[in-house]
Amino acid sequence: MTTDEILAGLKRLEPWFHSIDLGGGITTKTESVMGEPVDHPHEPWQVIQQCLPRDLHGKSLLDVGCNAGFYSFEAKRRGAARVLGVDGQRQHIRQALFVRKVLGLDLEFRRMNVYELDRQTIGQFDITLALGLIYHLKHLVLALENLYKVTREMLVIETAIMPPERTPASFTHPLGETQMRLHALALVENPQAAKEQVFNWFLPSIAALEALLSNTGFDSIEVVEVKNERAVLVCRKSAAQSERDVRHHYVAALALESGPTISRPGEDLRFTLQVKNAGLTRWAARGEDETGKGAVQLGAHLLRADEEELSWDYGRADLPYDLEPGKVESIIVTLRAPQEAGRYIVEFDMVAEHIAWFEDFGSGTLRHELLVSP
Ligand SMILES: C[S@@+](CC[C@H](N)C(=O)[O-])C[C@H]1O[C@@H](n2cnc3c(N)ncnc32)[C@H](O)[C@@H]1O
Repeated sequence: MTTDEILAGLKRLEPWFHSIDLGGGITTKTESVMGEPVDHPHEPWQVIQQCLPRDLHGKSLLDVGCNAGFYSFEAKRRGAARVLGVDGQRQHIRQALFVRKVLGLDLEFRRMNVYELDRQTIGQFDITLALGLIYHLKHLVLALENLYKVTREMLVIETAIMPPERTPASFTHPLGETQMRLHALALVENPQAAKEQVFNWFLPSIAALEALLSNTGFDSIEVVEVKNERAVLVCRKSAAQSERDVRHHYVAALALESGPTISRPGEDLRFTLQVKNAGLTRWAARGEDETGKGAVQLGAHLLRADEEELSWDYGRADLPYDLEPGKVESIIVTLRAPQEAGRYIVEFDMVAEHIAWFEDFGSGTLRHELLVSP
């Protein structure tokens, strides 16, 4: 690209929050847009870079709320194998893609909200960055859970916090019959029309943040810096924890391919379902050992139309072979219609033998109405 083309692109994509060096004496911005230093985020980067391995070769890194991509580009310059920057605002992704083109670096950017982060679609990353992000989040706990799921080793958080000099100390207080630790978390009052991604919602105290992150599942949380009402934290997951996360992550997506909606009493009912392994655990067709524990099957419950349960273990069908995450298979299950005429619900769910029905892991079921007529 010529200098004129670069300058025209920068103008077209204004305003810029990130100051990124494009070479040839050109940076993405020359003035502050919302009170941040003109060279933002060079100052926080001094601390953030201390939290990252010097050499990122072989590592994957996800930058959530990447803005124009300053941190993503720095990670790529340190040799990261895969870098994905996501941001909820299209404008910032357009900026990041423009910078990528100018710098000629090989990294990915996608418009994606933190609530959409999902291992099935983007995979898991050794390192995740959530810098200047979490105080923008109305659904803070949901977002932290998503950040946890897509992180394999380490999550770095940089955030505004509740002003330390005005933060009440944590204390123990009875809730019901149990003594619980209570930590301060400030809610920022907003106008009703406030747009989530630019307004602020929660300013946690350091203690609240540590409790939230440890509750989410991280094994260790280190407060790296607290300065000017902002904090940097590094949260780590052990290999054993990652292993535990995947185990029994049973989620199914079920769809009916064919099956009767009307039948005579006692008649055979043949259903074909498309089942998808939408979780993270491989479905073992024959189980984990000789007892068959963990063998995954398609199962069905029989309910009356008013939801009264008639038969919990109404019928089952085996998987033809082990089903890896993301894979889909058609399964036939044959059931026997009830002897009594009436309206029924056949509810399909997957079951892992001697472990649980998938519904207990939060997976959805498939409900099918059946009319038995004499
Ligand atoms: C204060 S800026 C921080 C940018 C950059 N990470 C940094 O530290 O300089 C917050 C960024 O998070 C993005 N953001 C806010 N809410 C988001 C959400 N729910 N999902 C994804 N990105 C979001 C905004 O669009 C913005 O680019």
